[in-house]
Amino acid sequence: MTVLGIESSCDECAVALVRDGATILSSVINTQIEHHRPYNGVVPELASRLHVEAVTDVYREARRLAGGVDFDAVAVTNRPGLVGSLLVGLSFAKGVAFAAGKPLVGVDHILAHLYAPQLEGPVAYPHVGLLVSGGHTLLALVRSFDDIEVLGTTIDDAVGEAFDKVAKFYGLGYPGGKAVDDLAKTGDPDAYRFPQSRLDKGSHPFDVSYSGLKTAVINQKDSFLKPGAEPTLENLCAGFQAAAVDLLVRKLKGVVKETGVHRVVAGGGVAANSYLRRSLSAQKGWEVHYPSLELCTDNAAMIAGWAYHALTRGDRAGWDLNAQSRVPRFKRKYP
Ligand code: KG4
Ligand code: ZN
Repeated sequence: MTVLGIESSCDECAVALVRDGATILSSVINTQIEHHRPYNGVVPELASRLHVEAVTDVYREARRLAGGVDFDAVAVTNRPGLVGSLLVGLSFAKGVAFAAGKPLVGVDHILAHLYAPQLEGPVAYPHVGLLVSGGHTLLALVRSFDDIEVLGTTIDDAVGEAFDKVAKFYGLGYPGGKAVDDLAKTGDPDAYRFPQSRLDKGSHPFDVSYSGLKTAVINQKDSFLKPGAEPTLENLCAGFQAAAVDLLVRKLKGVVKETGVHRVVAGGGVAANSYLRRSLSAQKGWEVHYPSLELCTDNAAMIAGWAYHALTRGDRAGWDLNAQSRVPRFKRKYP
């Protein structure tokens, strides 16, 4: 079965053709980063308009690269995301499915992110999934393509958002994660000792928080400088990055201990972070997987791949399928 996938939940307009949930025939991604850069963040209305301009060409290119192969169904991200952006991909998907007389299925973007590594060779279930991007911070026990138990999430900013806000404040560019990562390479992670959130108690022991760290780095950095250490930007980035990543690793260790599952899959844009990758790979007894960067960040191959399994068990969306901006964050069971 060949599925045509469409993704437009944020600032990437993407179309892909994937066979049997495993083989990518084509995957085209049109990113809007350059358009949002002047604003240091995604401007929702601009994103919707850019999707309208791009989606037809992206679709044509994906079909062309797949050699004009026919498709059996259309899959589209319909939640969560920017509603204006989602509606562009959703309406386009309905048009394509209707015209071709093929079934349509709506896909949850987060479940699709957690599925992405399966497109580069099967990763056995269960595993612990870490999804870290500009919009999501999630620790979950992944039992199958749609059996996900969310064990932790952020109670405020996403981790990538914290990287972006720190980078924006210090004028490092947008998106800021890579700039921070690069500067941190020559910095001393111990020069600044930033506090980590302590949400360990209570009913959500694996939740994280990034607004306190962000505020400390932006407004109170001097009070966290070790006596005698140099207050350089490199040291600041290294200290911030270490605090942000160490918190994730600490929570992951807790999840691995509680679940007894030592297979860990990291995805999302922040999974590109070199310090995070080093820290995860250094954990003894863990089997760590990272999808390649194109599959970590937003793409339509993960949408088409996930949808194959949903279609196989009979999922079909009606023509009234709508977009949803959010899905409840604190539910233990996802979605
Ligand atoms: O998955 P993604 O492309 O888009 C969504 O947010 O859905 O993730 C983008 C995020 C941005 O916040 C960016 O700053 C961050 O990933 N990022 C990084 C790195 N590369 C990208 N964060 C830390 N270190 C990096 N090397
Ligand atoms: Zn995403």
